[in-house]
Amino acid sequence: FNTIDDMDLAGKVVLTRVDVNVPVENGQVTDATRIEKIVPTVKDIQAKGGIPVLLAHFDRPKGQRVDAMSLRQIVPSLEAALGQEVVFADDCIGGPAKRVVAALKPGQVALMENTRFHAGEEANDATFAASLAALGGAYVNDAFSAAHRAHASTEALARLLNAGAGRLMEAELKALDAALGDPQRPVMAVVGGAKVSTKLELLTNLVEKVDHLVIGGGMANTFLVAKGVEVGKSLAERDMADTARAILEKAEATGCKIHLPVDIVVAREFKAGAASETLPVDQCPADAMILDAGPDTVEALRQAMTACKTLIWNGPLGAFEIEPFDAATNAAARAAAELTAQGALVSVAGGGDTVAALNKAGAAESFTFISTAGGAFLEWMEGKTLPGVAALEAARR
Ligand code: 3PG
Repeated sequence: FNTIDDMDLAGKVVLTRVDVNVPVENGQVTDATRIEKIVPTVKDIQAKGGIPVLLAHFDRPKGQRVDAMSLRQIVPSLEAALGQEVVFADDCIGGPAKRVVAALKPGQVALMENTRFHAGEEANDATFAASLAALGGAYVNDAFSAAHRAHASTEALARLLNAGAGRLMEAELKALDAALGDPQRPVMAVVGGAKVSTKLELLTNLVEKVDHLVIGGGMANTFLVAKGVEVGKSLAERDMADTARAILEKAEATGCKIHLPVDIVVAREFKAGAASETLPVDQCPADAMILDAGPDTVEALRQAMTACKTLIWNGPLGAFEIEPFDAATNAAARAAAELTAQGALVSVAGGGDTVAALNKAGAAESFTFISTAGGAFLEWMEGKTLPGVAALEAARR
């Protein structure tokens, strides 16, 4: 696909799709990471003489104007990140939008109201896309984290204007390609989370692509059940045991080594500071639940990781949001951070929970790349085509 470098933007209004779907509490942005990450794209468009007009969604208003989901509330954070005033337009199409855009001067930047206030956005509607296209002379998509949605501002619009990828989109795809596309081997994937059922496609795709697959969190319990290990009151999807067995067999056939817990941290209650004990994996009491992997598991994982060159991580290893059940996730994250800092490992992580866990462990900064994406990161790891990326690729021809 084209990048900003390939595009003639001088004097043009550049419709720039960004993802500023950030957490907000009482009208205040609580994590501005996604906002900060779009700054290079905005600046580079301006440096080429283009006027960035930002298109974005916020939350899920389902085609209605919902005041609490207005993008106006992120304007102060966007202004702080860009270090300049941001012009806000009350609607992303129609008369008011046209008037705001027509008054913009080179050096300025505008943010248009939530594209999802129009039903045409999520319907990937051609007429709505044409109304967006009428505002600008070029299109840049910098919203990797929304690229798994085939919506008008992420998909149809790319076919209507000269289109290219923004800097964050480029960086995300490059990092993911380094981890799974053409990686340095051996490759380890760490996949955690509550349920096998929600990550089935991911696990199935990964056993074909990686050399080591570490399974953590609640889904590890399902695999233990599949191997005939008793897990007491642990969260486990017993009806998924056959599926888990099929994944284990596939891994055996493809030469992917699966890592499951060898020791476990169990408790009778799921609350902060609950009395816990560490036991061999096959000794979970009938009235207890597994809430984390134990230190021997972490040590085995650290050793396997040391022999790897590439790591891709999605999902915590235990109930990381509650102490002391964050220990395995923290220790494994720090091991990965250390190996990365030594230059021995390329490490890539994504997904909301995962990034929160790595931040909590103080490990995120040392990772090679932390994706801003949740759903899009997962779908990419699953081997799916992302419509927003495919549209940019088609636009190149
Ligand atoms: C995200 O937050 O992952 C993206 O902005 C996509 O949001 P959506 O899941 O509401 O489409």
